[in-house]
Amino acid sequence: MSGKLQVFKTEALVVTFDPTLCIHSAECLRGLPAVFDVSRVAWIKPDAAPTEQVVEVVGRCPTGALQAIQRGKPPVPAAGAVPGPGERVRVELREDGPVIIRGAIDFSPDLGQVEPREGILSLCRCGRSASPPFCDGSHGGR
Ligand code: FES
Repeated sequence: MSGKLQVFKTEALVVTFDPTLCIHSAECLRGLPAVFDVSRVAWIKPDAAPTEQVVEVVGRCPTGALQAIQRGKPPVPAAGAVPGPGERVRVELREDGPVIIRGAIDFSPDLGQVEPREGILSLCRCGRSASPPFCDGSHGGR
């Protein structure tokens, strides 16, 4: 899979996937295997289940890598949605996985340059990532 945003559409729904945010928690694969199936090239089939079910499972994505937008309705914030302005930074420690930081921070990966970041940052704690300091899902043994 490339690092580009992937977009899957039906008449009622748009599902997007940002692979740079995915930590391979597999909530989607477990939640609706008919819709989310990595053995297919087009691995998301939003029309393989009722729209409400797809939206509900997308909402379980812990990092916001998956987003669902129903046509004619306001977007439903995913569990991994970015905090709004003025909200406190949130730090989550995933069991046997990354530390996830949500919010606006000054990021200094090498204790030198400071890089302003806003959104979700997923940092490796296991030492197996091929893209340190970021988590690439290698903690899951894949
Ligand atoms: S914590 Fe995910 S690759 Fe290390």
